[in-house]
Amino acid sequence: MVRAPVLVAVAAATLLAAAVVRARDPYAEDCKIHEYPPAGPTYKGTIPDYIINLDLPPSKRWVQLALDKTAELKTVIKAIKVIVSTFIHSGKFMASLDSILAWLGSTLPYPFNEEIKGIATAIDVPLGDVVAFNIFYEIFTVCTSIIAEDKTGKLYHARNLDFGLFLGWDIRNSSWSTTQKLKRLMVSLDFQKNNKTVFKSANFAGYVGVISGVKQGIFTLTMNERFSLDGGYIGIFEWLLGKRDGWWMGFLTRTVLENSTSYEDAKDKLANTKLLAPVYFIIGGNKTDEGCIITRSRTAALDIKNLDAKNGIWYVVETNYDPWKHPLVIDDRRHPAMNCLNQTKQEKISLPALYNVLSTKPVLNKLTVSTTLLEVSEGHIETYLRECPDPCSPW
Ligand SMILES: *[C@@H]1O[C@H](CO)[C@@H](O)[C@H](O)[C@H]1NC(C)=O
Ligand SMILES: *[C@@H]1O[C@H](CO)[C@@H](O)[C@H](O)[C@H]1NC(C)=O
Ligand SMILES: *[C@@H]1O[C@H](CO)[C@@H](O)[C@H](O)[C@H]1NC(C)=O
Ligand SMILES: *[C@@H]1O[C@H](CO)[C@@H](O)[C@H](O)[C@H]1NC(C)=O
Ligand SMILES: *[C@@H]1O[C@H](CO)[C@@H](O)[C@H](O)[C@H]1NC(C)=O
Repeated sequence: MVRAPVLVAVAAATLLAAAVVRARDPYAEDCKIHEYPPAGPTYKGTIPDYIINLDLPPSKRWVQLALDKTAELKTVIKAIKVIVSTFIHSGKFMASLDSILAWLGSTLPYPFNEEIKGIATAIDVPLGDVVAFNIFYEIFTVCTSIIAEDKTGKLYHARNLDFGLFLGWDIRNSSWSTTQKLKRLMVSLDFQKNNKTVFKSANFAGYVGVISGVKQGIFTLTMNERFSLDGGYIGIFEWLLGKRDGWWMGFLTRTVLENSTSYEDAKDKLANTKLLAPVYFIIGGNKTDEGCIITRSRTAALDIKNLDAKNGIWYVVETNYDPWKHPLVIDDRRHPAMNCLNQTKQEKISLPALYNVLSTKPVLNKLTVSTTLLEVSEGHIETYLRECPDPCSPW
């Protein structure tokens, strides 16, 4: 159910890639330097704030948010189902999609199973619809994440969330239609216990995992998709078949943000917990040189790339390629980002400077839903919706 779309997506990527390989360069531009505070044609608005009360039973935590976003959620769920059922009909799947997804939902671990059920009940859709929605975030997220350290050792973390690849190119609007719909679902979340913040995140309403978050004074965390053919989505099939010893990636990040109390502990859990699919975790701590990219296979950390400011490594950049390999020529967001960081220089690094880097095409592209800036010592997170006016790279 899941591998089919991925393989088709890979095939489509190759074809599209060939088509745009010559067209890529014109999308590149000089490093932006005056984009912050956000305004102008690349800025599409801020996002609403919600408190998620962890003292409530899981089934009640997301009800208010789900009710406020019911219409937008249903629109995206409909779009995702059209795409999934197209792939499934082209495959050899016998059971109906709804029953597979509902059953998959019942196999998810606590408290995520209860939270997803609570959302489905609140907006009155089948459980499987909300499960599909949550699985999609685990699979279709391409991104750019950066951690940079200033001369005083202070750490800044930022990410573009690029989402919706192959989920319907809208010719009239020259945009990915799912990417546009998803912008209306972005929310800023404050997870609380005893009326106190435990951590904050920027999420799509309806998703109970975490792709970007900050725990004040302790760590910041983002997750980027890792497209790997060695073992890619086998984990999800194994899960379907009953071999359930791997974690969903976004559930692990949520658990780490909720329950880890140090950078080292977060790093250890993210590096060593068995997963259902490969991924990159980008974590920053609260002290000089506490920042790294963990390249994960399902079972192990293949590589951990650490900051090392005294040896000149004052930033790390992760897109969707292994740090020790060249990115795909037609999808190189890493070098443009590095080039702009080099031009900025360590002396001038700040959250606004990172916003500028993330506003430079093709780091900013047609898939970019939002830019999130994270600062650990204040526990600060700010998120802006983005738009990439033509001419702009499709990804
Ligand atoms: C595309 O543009 C049309 C007309 O401008 C608008 O009605 C429609 O909602 C847009 N679609 C998306 C997905 O933004
Ligand atoms: C949180 O605050 C509300 C009102 O401000 C209060 O009614 C509630 O008891 C508090 N909850 C906890 C767990 O302290
Ligand atoms: C995080 O770093 C700031 C600035 O260096 C410091 O004031 C604060 O005490 C640190 N917080 C923790 C929990 O270590
Ligand atoms: C965090 O730990 C608490 C206490 O053990 C547990 O109840 C909670 O479910 C954990 N959170 C997650 C997301 O697993
Ligand atoms: C950025 O600077 C680093 C360190 O000097 C260098 O290794 C790297 O090639 C530069 N990258 C780009 C894209 O300018």
